[in-house]
Amino acid sequence: MSVAPRAGNGKVTVPDIVNRKSRRLSDPSSPSEKITCLTAYDYPSARLLDDAGVDIVLVGDSVAMVVLGYDSTLPLTVDEMLHHVKAVRRGTRRALVVADMPYGSYHASIEDSIRTALRFIKEGGAEAVKVEGGERRLELIARLVEAEIPVMAHIGLTPQSVNALGGFKVQGRTQTAVEQLLRDAHAVESAGAFAIVLESMPRELAARITEQVHIPTIGIGAGPDCDGQVLVLHDAIGMTQGHTPKFTRQYVNVGESIGRAVAEFCDDVRQGRFPSDDESYHLPADLRAQFLARSRT
Ligand code: KIV
Repeated sequence: MSVAPRAGNGKVTVPDIVNRKSRRLSDPSSPSEKITCLTAYDYPSARLLDDAGVDIVLVGDSVAMVVLGYDSTLPLTVDEMLHHVKAVRRGTRRALVVADMPYGSYHASIEDSIRTALRFIKEGGAEAVKVEGGERRLELIARLVEAEIPVMAHIGLTPQSVNALGGFKVQGRTQTAVEQLLRDAHAVESAGAFAIVLESMPRELAARITEQVHIPTIGIGAGPDCDGQVLVLHDAIGMTQGHTPKFTRQYVNVGESIGRAVAEFCDDVRQGRFPSDDESYHLPADLRAQFLARSRT
């Protein structure tokens, strides 16, 4: 495992992320620098994101759906996740690397959850972990923080609760749900989370949470008033098949480019246009003449 470079050389750290919000709170007239976060699951995409200057690389458990082909995030195992976290760590120098804790890895006991989170830090090289859930994660978050593991919380639509929620639905649309989400945000803040992902909720509610808490909010389908934004990389670059939610923005269609390149490759091979002589290795000239003369006899 390669180790995260030390702070002071442009490296984004947990305190840097927290300070973005603190600076804004202490001087509301200061220009706000929004936090940028994208998911990555492998070495090449982590390198691309890091070189392009994203603040946080999230090894999201969305890997289960967008890369591994599962129809929810629930089947993903800790070992599968660790494999991706290590690859992302190797490709990331500057951005903060956050590892999502898979479903089931923090639901049985606090001790087991801490042991698993420690694996993401020690073996995976992550600098923080993310857990889904609000009020009900209060004790867990506090214990992880006590073990020196920075925690990013995640409330609103929490995909690991897909069965309990009855589907991937926008949250916080009733008075009761609004009040619960406000309580969730305050609970994870008081437990010591350094940031909160707000997923799929009305813009007005996300704005209120952002106004009320002192830690940064990072929205996905939560409107523009959050302190930062996160997207699933594969949605943003056109590598997701099937339905994508209305909050995603596709910046480029890499999927279409790959499809065209593959069709062209197949055509070139079938028509004998690939590889060309220039794309082939040759024997040294002296050997070549002898070799060709011999093989003709
Ligand atoms: O798994 C993931 O990619 C996430 C983001 C959508 C926040 O949790």
